[in-house]
Amino acid sequence: MCGIMGYVGKSPASGIILEGLARQEYRGYDSAGIALRREGEIINAKIVGRVSELVRKVGELPPECSQSTSGIGHTRWATHGGVTETNAHPHESADGMVVLVHNGIIENSREIRDELESNGIRFRTETDTEAACQLLAVLYGTCGGDALKAMRKLTSRLTGAFALVIMFRDRPDEIWCARKGSPLVTAFDGSASYCASDPTALLGHTHDLCFLEEGELALLSSDDLKFYGFDGQPRDKSPIHLNWDSVMADKGHYEHFMRKEIGEQPDVLRLTIDAHTIVTNVALEKSITLPKGLMKKIRRVQFVACGTSYYATIVARDIMESLDGNLDISVEVASEYRYRNIRGGEDTIAVFVSQSGETADTLAAARIAKALGTHCIAMTNVRGSTIDREVEHTLLSLAGPEVGVAATKTFMGQISLLALLVMHLLKERETLSASDEARLIGGLRSLPALQQSVIEREDEIAALAKKYCKSKGFFFIGRRECVPLTMEGALKLKEIAYLPSEAYAAGEMKHGPIAMLDEKLTVVALVPDTDLREKTLSNVEECRARNAPTLLIVSEGDHDASAHANDMIAVPRTEPELFPFIGVIPLQLFAYHTARSLDRDIDMPRNLAKSVTVE
Ligand code: F6R
Repeated sequence: MCGIMGYVGKSPASGIILEGLARQEYRGYDSAGIALRREGEIINAKIVGRVSELVRKVGELPPECSQSTSGIGHTRWATHGGVTETNAHPHESADGMVVLVHNGIIENSREIRDELESNGIRFRTETDTEAACQLLAVLYGTCGGDALKAMRKLTSRLTGAFALVIMFRDRPDEIWCARKGSPLVTAFDGSASYCASDPTALLGHTHDLCFLEEGELALLSSDDLKFYGFDGQPRDKSPIHLNWDSVMADKGHYEHFMRKEIGEQPDVLRLTIDAHTIVTNVALEKSITLPKGLMKKIRRVQFVACGTSYYATIVARDIMESLDGNLDISVEVASEYRYRNIRGGEDTIAVFVSQSGETADTLAAARIAKALGTHCIAMTNVRGSTIDREVEHTLLSLAGPEVGVAATKTFMGQISLLALLVMHLLKERETLSASDEARLIGGLRSLPALQQSVIEREDEIAALAKKYCKSKGFFFIGRRECVPLTMEGALKLKEIAYLPSEAYAAGEMKHGPIAMLDEKLTVVALVPDTDLREKTLSNVEECRARNAPTLLIVSEGDHDASAHANDMIAVPRTEPELFPFIGVIPLQLFAYHTARSLDRDIDMPRNLAKSVTVE
């Protein structure tokens, strides 16, 4: 939510900052702004709209601004205050001394604002951020121009979540950063310092990154990068080398990142299996070491996440449940877990799954579990992210940077690693038979090629998307291993096509939703050839009897299913538990092509932001 980019060095800053913003635009894209220096002043340029619009506006600034060797920029996902140019960041203090960008929510902004306004300071915006900006300017004055002291005082006054990046008018070679609750990553390449919300913005400059911890400040300059605690004490920090290729974050010849990322899933799966298995055995020991004998004492396993990551955990639960009937396994939405009277402790393992590693609810849930004495494992796609640093045991998924707002390849990274984690935990518990292990690893190994064969049938799926895109809505139905896919299929369609779409366990249709069916509501049914095929087909028939068109995802060779379908997409057969690995691909492509037929903004759907760092 909101993307930040800062640069101070020897080269012109504006291009570097605009490129960094463009790379992070998926974090927020309702408005954008940049601050650059000109003859002892700081000049702000802001727009409502996309970074491309900001590029145009920067081109209209006085020519000296393009020579500025430092600056900060921001793309906004509005929380407090409407989407207007005035509310866009950077914000400037009334005296012009402080210019600041912010990601997060300052919860006591009202109180600070009231106090400052009663002292005669005039606010210009409706944002919570301006309170921090105006307050810092006052503190900088009362601290006699001591920036470190003023930053200490500021951070002790603010409550809520913030990543703040600041320029002081009279400190031309400095940018200050503060982090509490919202991500911020910094880097120094020998002649310049950078900061950003997301590592992908920095990869074109350096791969050695310093992630700010909770309660840390950074001082960026052209010849150094320094860190302090909120108490003002200097801190040492060693960079983490991030092994991501910056071209992985480029669109290549694809029209959309989402489409490129759907196509990368066979590689993600292959990479995960290669990294964590030996022949037919799981080999996760090097990546995660739990206390010896722990798994034999564990009674309860909780999987906790939000959105698509939550659906990935349902896949994991189902696999685990099918292999071990003696564990109490649950899946939990993080935003609920954190407020319920949840069980935990020594006999519980909780797995927190977050591709970004920054989702506020998942982080809060992990902190609660930790406090209960629960054994916590984090799974994230971003090395150095908050969850990686806060949770004792972390597993990194191997999807590489995902730029499309709708998660696709990170889902694949998660379910593949979760499947291996489940097997690893059950092996430690001595409840995974060698034959199940070999069967599932063999099944996983065969999947990338099968996934590729589905991706190659894209034209067929695109034609179906075109045919059904005018439906007034969609129901996605399925049973057991298909249930998480119904949720993911419906979510993808909502997110990028903005079409009403609901997911139901097929048996639930009769208990209410069936009332909505008519010839304008399309039912997408997942009907792989398992022991539940007949039962799901009966539910499909109930939909057809109410005139709903039916689009079935079936197993290759199941020609008889056509008697129940207006249209079908056939996918290769898999081990039953592994059906989600293949079944998700036609759903992603269907959503993608539906959105494309409707001319939606696929990589940056309205109202969304990729990383949800507020509650
Ligand atoms: C859907 C999507 C979201 C995320 C959710 C959790 O396409 O991307 O539903 O899955 O916001 O995000 P992470 O995994 O970063 O915690």
